[in-house]
Amino acid sequence: MPASDPLVVAARGARRRAIAPHSGFKVGAALLTADGTVVTGCNIENATYGLTLCAERVAMFTALAAGHRRFTRIAVVADTTAPTPPCGPCRQILWEFAGDLDVILANLRRETGRHRLSDLLPLPFDRRLLR
Ligand code: THU
Repeated sequence: MPASDPLVVAARGARRRAIAPHSGFKVGAALLTADGTVVTGCNIENATYGLTLCAERVAMFTALAAGHRRFTRIAVVADTTAPTPPCGPCRQILWEFAGDLDVILANLRRETGRHRLSDLLPLPFDRRLLR
C-alpha cells in the first residue's frame, strides 16, 4: 500500500504525541487488530533513560489492556530517511503477542520498508520452548 495507508497515517498522528525530551527522537506506532481496530502508541521517555518505553510496546500494551488479542499489521513512523525498525526488545514483545505481523516502516512523507516480523526476529525464543 502507498504512504497514504491509513495505518501509516495513524502512526504519524501518534508520533505527534511522543514524549521524547531527552533524545528528541519521536516515534509513532499503529497496530491493526484482527477485527479492524487501530490502536496507537508513541514513545514515552523518562529522565532515567532506562524506563523509556518505545512506541511499539506502548501500542501493544495499550491494545492488550483494551482486550485485543489478535493482530495483523503494525506501522512504525519516525522522521528519518533510512527505515527505523523496531528495536530488539520490541520485536520480542510483538512476536509474543502478535506472531508473524506485517511491519510497515515509514517516515513523514513515504513508506521506507515492509517486512515480516519473522524476518526481523529469526529463530525466536517463545512459549513453544516452555512446554
Ligand atoms: N524508539 C521507539 O519508540 N521505537 C523504535 O523503533 C526505536 C526507538 C524510541 C526510544 C527512545 O525514546 C527514542 O526512540 C530513541 O531511541
